[in-house]
Amino acid sequence: MEKAGSMPIGVFDSGLGGLTVAREIMRNLPNERIVYFGDTARVPYGSKSKNTIVRYSRQIVRFLKTQDIKAIVIACNTATALAIDEVSEEAGMPVIGVVEPGARMAAESTRNGKVGVIATRATIHTHAYSNAIRRINPDIRVFSQAGALLVPLVEEGWVHDRVTDEIIMRYLDDLLEHGIDTLILGCTHYPLLRSTIRKLVGDEVTLINPAYETAKELGRMLACRGLESTGTIEEGEPYPYKFFVSDDPDKFTSFANSILPVDVKMAKIVPIEEY
Ligand code: DGL
Repeated sequence: MEKAGSMPIGVFDSGLGGLTVAREIMRNLPNERIVYFGDTARVPYGSKSKNTIVRYSRQIVRFLKTQDIKAIVIACNTATALAIDEVSEEAGMPVIGVVEPGARMAAESTRNGKVGVIATRATIHTHAYSNAIRRINPDIRVFSQAGALLVPLVEEGWVHDRVTDEIIMRYLDDLLEHGIDTLILGCTHYPLLRSTIRKLVGDEVTLINPAYETAKELGRMLACRGLESTGTIEEGEPYPYKFFVSDDPDKFTSFANSILPVDVKMAKIVPIEEY
């Protein structure tokens, strides 16, 4: 199966945030090649309707299928929550989203049966995380909070800032009052706020990073289907990681270089509306 194994994994997101998922795949599955698409022209998805997110996601899948990929990872929580069924139908290959792996780890981690979720408004409205957790354990209580202001703060680089601390606390106050002992960082950007959130919530609350859980789940799925890459990526291999965007490649590459363990030289623009 090495031919299939050496094919890349298609990873997509509404923009830059999904690079937190790509980063975990690079760290945890270093032999896997990646084609990443960030929909930087149409971000954010978190404030859009289901119809729009489904249409965008289908277009992205059609584009990714031109790249000879073996599986798709929906790195975006919002696209996973609103469009995973439609993406799976369009893809005709294995598809993994970030919600199930994150929900599973939260259900395993909680000791008092109270889990908090912060995510975009669209993700919270679908109840995707709470439904997934309750399917695993109906006794777990899930408390949710939309955190609309956090994505722009991260993209502005205000990760360690008094203003960001205050906004995070406004969002988390209610959840903490409910006595949660586990918190899902249910948006691609929130793992980048992890140390700030840790400082604010203390050591008693377990933070769940769906990006990390998704990379592990991807590894299990590839192994189980005989799709994993068994050969290593040679140093100097021209493009083990390819990046595509729908707009503003420079902003994308500079963000990518600030968080990825590899040097990203360029991102190509794709006219995604044509797919
Ligand atoms: N990638 C989105 C998510 O994980 C956050 C940014 C957006 O709203 O598009 O939900």
